[in-house]
Amino acid sequence: MHVVHTIAELRARLAGYRCVSFVPTMGSLHEGHLALVHQARTLGDVTVASIFVNRLQFAPGEDFDTYPRTLEADCVQLRAVGCGVVFAPSERELYPQAQGFTIQPPAELADIFEGEFRPGFFAGVCTVVQKLFGCVQPSVAVFGKKDYQQQMIVRRMVQQFALPIEIVTVDTIRAADGLALSSRNAYLSPAERREAVQLPMALAAIASALRSGETDVPALESEAMQSLAVRGWRPDYLVARRRSDLQPGRPGEAMVVLGAARLGATRLIDSVEV
Ligand code: PAF
Repeated sequence: MHVVHTIAELRARLAGYRCVSFVPTMGSLHEGHLALVHQARTLGDVTVASIFVNRLQFAPGEDFDTYPRTLEADCVQLRAVGCGVVFAPSERELYPQAQGFTIQPPAELADIFEGEFRPGFFAGVCTVVQKLFGCVQPSVAVFGKKDYQQQMIVRRMVQQFALPIEIVTVDTIRAADGLALSSRNAYLSPAERREAVQLPMALAAIASALRSGETDVPALESEAMQSLAVRGWRPDYLVARRRSDLQPGRPGEAMVVLGAARLGATRLIDSVEV
């Protein structure tokens, strides 16, 4: 495995490969990321993982400064799963000047749910993903379904810009108790970690009610919000929406349940397809 820090080194390393598969990450890797790499390895003749904590997607007051940076340990894990190239640029390399050109995703996709509670988040994500796509020039890019809205918006961006990149998604990897693996789980105290499973349980309760034919979606959503609030969480949203565009669904349409909630100082997000 080669670890490169500049765009020039990356391009030199990838010259001659026909089909590059790509997993963009912010590092602090866990089994969820490794599952993306496993999938990517089946889809290209070389797999690149990027590690870059992208300032553009953090609002002032969010955890950009404290986001765990664990490059060495990440590389050990990536090597073990057969990643070919790690692209770990510095901020100066990726953003040598302030990034004046940005991607502004449409409000109806990006200003709801995550975008409502993290204004500018998806513009930051789309801008860095577009830039990383320009650096890596992958044929395939792999994203996790935990960040459901993110993968949907990236997919739309790729379609609308006619980028020659296939977007592949991978199911969420969960701990034994059901909590979705996330780099931010490291922020939880032992007591919070025990409590954290209540978020996937609340999402699963909505999903299970929908599967059994319940149609009063707003009632299910507010019951789930309430069930977390009474336990001391501060839920941002728990919603059941159509998978394709995250708008309210009609009976028979494929749905997904999305949620984000704060437990103490930690904000967790998760999603469950119905
Ligand atoms: O999902 C993430 O880790 C990030 O949002 C991404 C896609 C690597 C962009 O910084």
